[in-house]
Amino acid sequence: MPKDSLSVVDNRTGLSYELPLADGTVRAMDLRKIRTGEDDFGLMSYDPGFANTASTRSSITYVDGEKGILRYRGYPIETLAKNAGYLETAYLVIFGRLPTAPQLANWERDIRHHTMLHTNIQNLIETFRYDAHPMSLFISSVASLATLYPDSRDVMDPANRRLQVERIIAKVATIAAFAYRHNQGWPFNGPDDSLSYVGNFLNMMFKMTEVKYEPNPVLEKALNVLFVLHADHEQNAGTTAMRVIGSAQGDPYSALAGAAAALYGPLHGAANEAVLSQLELIGKPERVPEFIERVKKGECRLMGFGHRIYKNYDPRCRIIKKTAEEVFRVTGSNVLLDVALELERIALEDEYFVSRKLYPNVDFYSGLIYRAMNLPASLFTVMFAVPRTCGWLAHWLEAFDDPEQKLMRPRQIYDGPEERGYVSIGAR
Ligand code: CMC
Repeated sequence: MPKDSLSVVDNRTGLSYELPLADGTVRAMDLRKIRTGEDDFGLMSYDPGFANTASTRSSITYVDGEKGILRYRGYPIETLAKNAGYLETAYLVIFGRLPTAPQLANWERDIRHHTMLHTNIQNLIETFRYDAHPMSLFISSVASLATLYPDSRDVMDPANRRLQVERIIAKVATIAAFAYRHNQGWPFNGPDDSLSYVGNFLNMMFKMTEVKYEPNPVLEKALNVLFVLHADHEQNAGTTAMRVIGSAQGDPYSALAGAAAALYGPLHGAANEAVLSQLELIGKPERVPEFIERVKKGECRLMGFGHRIYKNYDPRCRIIKKTAEEVFRVTGSNVLLDVALELERIALEDEYFVSRKLYPNVDFYSGLIYRAMNLPASLFTVMFAVPRTCGWLAHWLEAFDDPEQKLMRPRQIYDGPEERGYVSIGAR
């Protein structure tokens, strides 16, 4: 009997099966041969939330949730946050290797080439109400880009895919900045090619009447760190949405709008917005114990805590916490940081959180940095979506090179009614 196999006895029939094992997995399709008879469809696996299902092979991001390890293409997140620029990280995430100096210069030039937004999209943004949620605006605008670039539907052409990737990475920053400016009621700022990707993003958001916008170096560095930390996180809900939509071979703008829509949920990327509301609700450190009791009674969740994969301290959170302290040295402290620190301190000692392995996640401290930059909480998820774009695109591209990938179409267990006769409306 091969060692790398699973022996299964089906007690319904008494039959035995040998299922091959590889990479710590059993192939779900191998279960199909386990049947009670000719009419039986065969065994399926049932996995709501895909909590124990690998849907793909991927060489982009490695996460060990028990040990709190995160690496992009083998490089520890701590090293990248310390040394790499966002576009350098995006290149690594997408192409699998750190760029050489000329490769990076070309990559930056190619992305800069696409930072301007067609006036149709600017006009579209202006049609939204002044208080439209910027994430809704972001999702709609990204989806609308497909109308301007119909060539993007030619997804089987690798050169065309690369063109769209450059275009999207460039344009999401402009859309995000314009969404912010629209909410503020300020005119849009065009891109400044002399700045870094992050510096230009700050320029498009914050430039007022000055002739040349000079980003604050501490804030630019902090935002760069945040962008590097958010670049990818393997098969989360947003990335899975990107892969599912991409598997139907539609254009990448539509797929990316879908990924961003998944990110917009409060259990996913909108948790950073919810964290800030919660910190404001608590208001001062003395009120933390009372709030923790409410969480333990199940009245609400402690937002920014817990993770499907991390059962240890989220390594991104540790870096963001340190970055927040650096930012606060420039912008002045904020009582909400004290509330967050007290929440973390109490939660990490409390049996409820300890026994469930609930630790602060990436969203716990990031909102505090954005708030220190005077950004409204509604923009926080957009600040997540912009850097995550390179991760979504890397996964979208990876699927094209994987011969095993196909249209994603899960099964279900049907538990609705058997066939019924139609009853006319008057007789119901
Ligand atoms: N506060 C209080 N209790 C919690 C929390 C929390 N934040 N998270 C999980 N639990 C409890 C939950 O009630 C359950 O307890 P019990 O076993 O008594 O029923 C147990 O922990 C396991 O929870 P789960 O919902 O089965 O775990 P999950 O893996 O499905 O949830 C999660 C992961 C991220 C959805 C969840 O931890 C959560 O809702 N956290 C708050 C929202 C948040 O911060 N999301 C950002 C995630 S990181 C960034 C990203 O992915 O975008």
